Amino acid sequence: MTEPDHYSFRRYLDAKRTVDRRARNRRVADAFRRTLERFDESVELCEIGAGTGAMVETILEWTAGTEVRYTAIDADPALVEAAADSVVDRASDRGHGPDRSDGTVRVDRDGATFEVEFRAEDALAHLADRDGTYDAVVAQAFLDLTDVQTALSAIADGLRSGGVAYFPITFDGVTALVPPVDPELEDRIERRFHRRMDTTEKVGGETGDSNAGRRLLTAVPATGGRIVAAGGSDWVVRPTDGGYEADEAYFLHHIVDTVESALAADGTIDPERLRAWAESRHEQVADAELVYLAHQLDVLARWPASA
Ligand SMILES: C[S@@+](CC[C@H](N)C(=O)[O-])C[C@H]1O[C@@H](n2cnc3c(N)ncnc32)[C@H](O)[C@@H]1O
Repeated sequence: MTEPDHYSFRRYLDAKRTVDRRARNRRVADAFRRTLERFDESVELCEIGAGTGAMVETILEWTAGTEVRYTAIDADPALVEAAADSVVDRASDRGHGPDRSDGTVRVDRDGATFEVEFRAEDALAHLADRDGTYDAVVAQAFLDLTDVQTALSAIADGLRSGGVAYFPITFDGVTALVPPVDPELEDRIERRFHRRMDTTEKVGGETGDSNAGRRLLTAVPATGGRIVAAGGSDWVVRPTDGGYEADEAYFLHHIVDTVESALAADGTIDPERLRAWAESRHEQVADAELVYLAHQLDVLARWPASA
């Protein structure tokens, strides 16, 4: 693949679906699924930073016998539109015949209705406005973009007493690309890339957190909650049979471009050396040689801790 002039975030989110599916921690996911199955009545669920709807489709699959009222929020209206289109397509493929009107998609599954309201807005402000509304909150690949403790306070406010929050794919401080092309430079690239995450304003005017996964383990109790389950969910993207699964080559090109762009803005690495590094990494993807690892944690938590 030749490098495009610019990469599409929407295509990146779609390309990462197969990577996330492999990575999600089964034990934590099963604990969340069991929690959802215990509801006799409709579950009120809110997803924050829903992107193109990957988790909406996953939870549609996970809750076949449970009635769900889902609020899927993303700050980017184009992604919200793409998410609604994708959920309609997926539900149609599964023979459900979804109804779509005014930002809502309704899927009738033999009585266990799955209704999604798609909203383009700031998700943390939404939760702060909906005090005590939700049985469950989901945030996949989101908490590393903000201050974890501030986000957890908003999430705890949005939950009913005894409600749970599921945080799959929360980045936790390790990025590795192998085989090496410039080992001395790459140590600096990893350090400066994480530092850039920690100092660049992202969600809600807060800077990101390259150690968000481990931060969650102390921030949940600090905000009055309890960890129900936690485990690793590392991304491992590697070539098999001379290529990558699904659209994962694009996913890798996008990651290399993200690292290069962050470090170009950081300005601490010589631009020519950085460009040469990125070109070598793009070539490794094209030649099906690059292996990419990112360490992440999945966490399921409940508020208050005594519930
Ligand atoms: C890394 S992406 C993850 C998307 C999706 N959860 C997934 O795993 O495919 C983070 C998402 O958070 C969204 N986002 C960023 N700030 C937000 C905010 N304040 N409120 C709602 N969504 C936000 C971005 O638009 C982006 O779609």
